[in-house]
Amino acid sequence: MGPVGSPPVADQDKRRHPDTDSVALGYDAVRHLGSLKPPVYETSTFVFESAEAGKRFFEAAYGPRVEADGETGYIYSRLDSPNLAPAESRLASWEEAVDAAIFTSGMGAITSVLLTFLRPGDLVVYSLPTYGGTATLMNGLLRDFGVVTRSFRSDARRDDLDAIVGDGELAMVYVETPANPTNELFDLDLAAGLARDHDARLVVDNTFLSPVWQKPIRLGADLSLHSATKYLGGHSDLTAGAVCGGADDIAALRRTRYEIGTTPSPSTAWLLTRSLETLRLRVERQTVSAIEVARFLAEHEKVSTVSHLSLLEEGTAQHDIYERQCEGPGAMVSFQIEGGEAECFRFLDAMGVIRLSTSLGGTESLATHPWTMSPPTVPDDEKRSLGVTPGLIRLSVGLESLDDLIADLDQALTAV
Ligand SMILES: Cc1ncc(COP(=O)(O)O)c(C=O)c1O
Repeated sequence: MGPVGSPPVADQDKRRHPDTDSVALGYDAVRHLGSLKPPVYETSTFVFESAEAGKRFFEAAYGPRVEADGETGYIYSRLDSPNLAPAESRLASWEEAVDAAIFTSGMGAITSVLLTFLRPGDLVVYSLPTYGGTATLMNGLLRDFGVVTRSFRSDARRDDLDAIVGDGELAMVYVETPANPTNELFDLDLAAGLARDHDARLVVDNTFLSPVWQKPIRLGADLSLHSATKYLGGHSDLTAGAVCGGADDIAALRRTRYEIGTTPSPSTAWLLTRSLETLRLRVERQTVSAIEVARFLAEHEKVSTVSHLSLLEEGTAQHDIYERQCEGPGAMVSFQIEGGEAECFRFLDAMGVIRLSTSLGGTESLATHPWTMSPPTVPDDEKRSLGVTPGLIRLSVGLESLDDLIADLDQALTAV
């Protein structure tokens, strides 16, 4: 008998609809003592049946798989473990990608992508606003390693992008859309055209909408990545990242993953697999509530502006992008409270059902104050120009009763 399970495979030829794949793909119960659900293989290392088998497994892991004739198996959990394949193949199915790889965190996934596909002297252009950790990496460590990084804004047109690229050696276009924390969209058609013309990779951070509402690979991206800590994990009880893309790119990312050690633990991979089973149910229900929450906030006298994709006005450039690349508005709502930091703090401290916390995408509703509660690497004037002002609240709508959520927002706004 061969090894239990198999090395990561996207199981492309076995794919069905993601709703079906979410509960079964990438796992064969017969090879796991008939256990309906994947057991957690909480072990750091695997025993070889013989020295010859160990040799073959190493050849398979470190050389091209096709050259490793015969059976392959597990060696060491930093390289691979049986809990990775179910999560990875199900994610690949969701993202319409050939394959996927999961990581210790969203930043672990992003760092692995940047280290794998950029070299000193290369240029990466990235969209703003973007998650603070990503901006910090682009402006700091990546530059220290000799990569040239330049940013562009969500309203950039092709002429603007060409001017930003100049005569740089463009190797990567990195887009976060919708952007954290303002929900601004960037046109992936435009980004894909730029990447294509320079033979560069298009990488999209799809954390905010999840593959339920946006499929970047269908829209021209080479890689779609996630903080799986958010909607993919969905319960605020795991930290993980994910990248979906073509076979060669994902194989290269797996090599980076075991070289630098950004492989998630078996328990984390197992928990993520479990969470993907309910991804659509959670995201759809959270989105239905978010549409009502956004509508309520937009009519409230203490709220000056609300940013939710359901409120985009027809005829605007943002609405046009939404129509072309999103299948639903998601459950992230940003809004400006009349006033500034003091008013926001009164609102946040008065919340009851909604919790004051910095993450998003979980079953519970969370609100945060991006002006004071994100990495302090972006200067204040730049934050303001990106729409991240002292009056901004970011709300992740959870699965609680909509009536309770609206009542909580209403009473907290009276405290402002
Ligand atoms: C859009 C986005 N991308 C990436 C990350 C980083 O993910 P993680 O916290 O899992 O490292 C975050 C975290 O908030 C995020 O919001």
